[in-house]
Amino acid sequence: MIKDTLDKIRQEALAKMEEAGDMDRLNEIRVAYLGKKGELTKVLKGMRDVAPEDRPKIGQMVNGTRAEIEQKLEDAKKTIASRERERRMRAEKIDVTLPAKRIRVGHSHPNTIALEEVERIFTGMGYQVVEGPEVETDYYNFEALNIPANHPAKDEQDTFYITKDILLRTQTSGVQVHVMEQQKPPIRMIAPGRVFRADEVDATHSPSFHQIEGLVIDKDITFADLKGTLAEFARQLFGPDTKVKFRPHHFPFTEPSAEMDVTCFKCGGKGCRMCKGEGWIEILGCGMVHPNVLRMSGIDPEEYTGFAFGVGLERIALLKYEIDDMRLLYENDIRFLNQF
Ligand code: DAH
Repeated sequence: MIKDTLDKIRQEALAKMEEAGDMDRLNEIRVAYLGKKGELTKVLKGMRDVAPEDRPKIGQMVNGTRAEIEQKLEDAKKTIASRERERRMRAEKIDVTLPAKRIRVGHSHPNTIALEEVERIFTGMGYQVVEGPEVETDYYNFEALNIPANHPAKDEQDTFYITKDILLRTQTSGVQVHVMEQQKPPIRMIAPGRVFRADEVDATHSPSFHQIEGLVIDKDITFADLKGTLAEFARQLFGPDTKVKFRPHHFPFTEPSAEMDVTCFKCGGKGCRMCKGEGWIEILGCGMVHPNVLRMSGIDPEEYTGFAFGVGLERIALLKYEIDDMRLLYENDIRFLNQF
């Protein structure tokens, strides 16, 4: 009698599992047959009416049925899982015959190529490469460089002020001050970076461009060290026959100050379109670091001297690659960039 009931329950459960299409349905079946209110539990509850001596045997039969249903549920679960996996894989199938998207490879920017060249030259002479902040205080950009309030040099470097004392740096020279405050001499560094000026865009101007600052501080550094270093730099950058010329100039943070010209690498100094017939091309500003600047940065000018220089990176890239309009450098047209 009970055996018949159990057989019926088992058959019913198995038939339902057979039809089940997903895990949710299998779970419903588990609850319906093995759960607290399920069919098998009902049978166990009916044991009250069974003679005590028959109970163990019937208990065994119920447990056997339970074990069998559980086993079949496990099997059905595996079948459904593998069926679902197969369906998913089929849905996610990739059509490898579709043409792939072309990967477009970029190209190094002339500024980057020129900067890497300059860094290679100076690191080869033992210089470290440092960076400073593009958003700078009036102190580092002007004051500590011996450019006090109301100095005319401030007018020439009109820029973008964030507050009265915070601005976009107009020159990389402020990095000199950061480095002198943080390191003890000897110092040999270059500091490349972006600078900003309120300039109109034209073939030779941009409101944002790049400079490379240089600073050397040690005992007994003289103008001869400056000349030798920068002449070697020019020869490595523009060719071994390059000659240099220093013209007196004025910068507030150096004394004496100079601008350095190089012989035109196109005509060798005879005069051509590149050098506008001059034979010489101006490439940087330089000088011996002003004692006021050393003192403000905590370096004793009686003990140490040094030289500094500032190069326009775009200027070097334009010269080296004979590009005649600076605006081309900022368009990032890959057809232009691919040429270098
Ligand atoms: N900061 C100067 C400028 O922007 C360039 C310069 C000149 C830097 C002479 C120097 C220097 O370090 O010694 O025009």
